[in-house]
Amino acid sequence: MKLPNIKEARKRTDKEVQYIYLNQEYNQNTLKDKKYFLRTYGCQMNVHDSEEISARLESLGLTKTEKLENADVVVLNTCAIRENAHDKLYGFLGRCKHEKEKNNPNLIIAICGCMAQEEGVVNELMKKHPYVNLVFGTHNIHELQDLILANNHQQDIEVYSCEGNVYENITYKRDSNIKAWVNIQYGCDKFCTYCIVPYTRGKQRSRKSSEIIKEVTDLVNKGYQEVTLLGQNVNAYGKDLPNELSFAELLEQVSKTKIPRLRFVTSHPWDFTDEMINTIAKYDNIMPYIHLPLQSGSTNILKKMGRRYTKEEYLTLYNKIKTTIPNCAITTDIIVGFPNESDDDFNETIEVVKKCQFDSAFTFIYSPREGTPAAKIKDTISMSTKEERLHKLNELINSYSLSANQKYLNKVVPVLIEGLSDKGNNKVFGYTDTMKLVNVTNAQNDIGKIINVKITDAKSFSLDGEKAE
Ligand code: 5AD
Ligand code: SF4
Repeated sequence: MKLPNIKEARKRTDKEVQYIYLNQEYNQNTLKDKKYFLRTYGCQMNVHDSEEISARLESLGLTKTEKLENADVVVLNTCAIRENAHDKLYGFLGRCKHEKEKNNPNLIIAICGCMAQEEGVVNELMKKHPYVNLVFGTHNIHELQDLILANNHQQDIEVYSCEGNVYENITYKRDSNIKAWVNIQYGCDKFCTYCIVPYTRGKQRSRKSSEIIKEVTDLVNKGYQEVTLLGQNVNAYGKDLPNELSFAELLEQVSKTKIPRLRFVTSHPWDFTDEMINTIAKYDNIMPYIHLPLQSGSTNILKKMGRRYTKEEYLTLYNKIKTTIPNCAITTDIIVGFPNESDDDFNETIEVVKKCQFDSAFTFIYSPREGTPAAKIKDTISMSTKEERLHKLNELINSYSLSANQKYLNKVVPVLIEGLSDKGNNKVFGYTDTMKLVNVTNAQNDIGKIINVKITDAKSFSLDGEKAE
């Protein structure tokens, strides 16, 4: 048993990161005829981790089921970024418990992901949820098969709270054969004061560029149309390694693999260089879309958040991107109600949003995370004020999303068609280079292709279109 420890998770030493080349083989007959149910909460990093978890379970012979009642193993890959992520997990855990008690006493229930790295959560699982068999952390995914095989229907907790290593030769069972995630970096060293990620995912560790290029080249050879480079702070890529490429240089090298579409998330404004902007502008297969979290428009709050830029610096960067990369879409994340955020602070956020007119934004009410510095600040702002602010912000954001979408009306734009749309009528869906969702008619035979689409209608959150001749 290994329990999480927030003090250990906070530590950053100069201990060298180990690059471990896995060479694991399992017998696919081990759990033949057994089924797994996997549910993923949270960000793209978790979605991609789940692709690894699926491959690991299938290496033992398990097959996937979408029905909880058919499962022999349930894996819940959790998120810790805000409290509501906790609520969602505990809600679903109730269903798993019921299933185990009523129908399947041998059901193995496993919890992993960011919540598994939290001391408070694991204590609660130990005290109140003894029917959970396995808790494993973000640093323990490579041990999954052994943990499952060793489980004797007692509770086993295996969570390392460490800075972390980099594992290579990972097999993924990718959700799509059209677009793929590729990790370029793990962890985060920014320690924004509200954020739990540097504790749950360890220190920033870049993968070697040679491995990244090898993985993308393999995907190109398999016919993938799009790759998204993944990291908590992709702009800081390579800074933790001697003689490694910068993020701009990496983008350039990956672009030269000729992957038709190249994207990346997430960018921190502090590390965004002119070289990156110029590289994105230069290569046609690097998509004109940047997710650039603002978090707050008030320099005072940004300072308390530990974001390392001012309102003016953000706006300068924003304008530089917009003038250098024609028709670049920019989206953002904003937190309202950081402890003691005043009306003036909030109005500055509104002012920045009015200036930037983001294509869209994810907006959140600040949620205190145990163990982070911001969680210790005594807050004087009421929840109803925070909710009012969120509502006001969302109305503004949505109006800009609608006008950004309306600019596409009657235009013909390239769309990568991904699959059948939930709108029915044989419609398919896909995304523009600027990451706008489009529901398209007359393109059922074009799944997996980039086609020209004429935009016929624009709403706040999607476009409609028809295949253009
Ligand atoms: N409370 C609310 N939102 C948060 N985010 C990160 N931590 C918190 C928190 N404690 C938001 C940030 C980040 C996005 C992924 O989640 O805006 O960019
Ligand atoms: Fe969290 Fe800040 Fe790191 Fe993003 S950059 S993961 S907000 S600490």
